Amino acid sequence: MEYYRGKNILITGAFGGFGLCFISQLLDGGASLILCDTPQSTIPIRDREKSLPVPVAGREKQILSIIPADLSNTEGCKTLHEEYRKLGKRVDMIIHNAGIAFGGEYADIPPELNEKIIQVNLLSIMRLNALFLPDMIRQRSGHLIYMSSVAGFVATPLAVSYSTSKFAVRSFAMALHGEIRKHGIRTSIVYPFFSKTPILKSQRFGDPQISTLPGFCATSPAHVVTCALKGAKNGRLHICPGFFSKLMWLAVRLHPVISAQRKIEGYSS
Ligand SMILES: NC(=O)c1ccc[n+]([C@@H]2O[C@H](COP(=O)([O-])OP(=O)(O)OC[C@H]3O[C@@H](n4cnc5c(N)ncnc54)[C@H](OP(=O)(O)O)[C@@H]3O)[C@@H](O)[C@H]2O)c1
Repeated sequence: MEYYRGKNILITGAFGGFGLCFISQLLDGGASLILCDTPQSTIPIRDREKSLPVPVAGREKQILSIIPADLSNTEGCKTLHEEYRKLGKRVDMIIHNAGIAFGGEYADIPPELNEKIIQVNLLSIMRLNALFLPDMIRQRSGHLIYMSSVAGFVATPLAVSYSTSKFAVRSFAMALHGEIRKHGIRTSIVYPFFSKTPILKSQRFGDPQISTLPGFCATSPAHVVTCALKGAKNGRLHICPGFFSKLMWLAVRLHPVISAQRKIEGYSS
């Protein structure tokens, strides 16, 4: 974890399931953290004199700031950037982790919620990068970590807008990587499979037949974050944390081979 020591790291969605694991593991790694979450999530924490739901005793100085911001709109992204600038700290890394989901058939989910998924999961990242990248380019260093999903490379029914947002995060990150690596800025994209965090309890619409996966299929949030941080430290562009994420990554690559064989054998698909 030496890679993270002394780095200033901005984490969005900091008080969610993965966010708390990032906080805990990065504090252990000696990083300095700037934490952002929705105003609802951050206010109670500030009221409790910045006590966090992860052990911080003796490491309070590593939490440089907690910034409430609604990242679903341009104003919220600007607020986060302005508050960050007031700290007078360089930005070494951004972990784009904030995200939302709704379950159900596309036509059953209210259009404004389908759009909100794109606003939070994709547009906030594009807006924040537009605001923070000029400084990273000037300083000729930085690392952008994106929480995509297996749904970012496997088109996922009953989560159409979510899957769309995660595919788009992936292509955005990869294309941008082609532009910014010459400035010494690294990119890592993380593709978790199911993990038991509050997002799995997101609101559902209609009567979606979403089959519940057996518990052993879910990767622990702490393991996802350990893999993400290890992969990022090792300079990996694509990070598949856990067995099922790796399996899906491989399956997608083998699929053209498998379907070609099925055609040879006389199957129609
Ligand atoms: N868990 C999984 O199975 C899984 C799998 C693949 C990818 N992911 C991705 O991993 C990331 C983290 O998710 P998680 O599993 O840790 O879920 P989570 O516990 O629900 O965390 C999501 C965080 O994002 C915050 N957030 C939501 N809307 C926001 C907004 N408008 N502005 C600022 N922050 C906002 C949430 O704040 P509030 O709690 O206040 O709403 C929450 O802290 C997400 O991008 C998710 O898509 C998760």
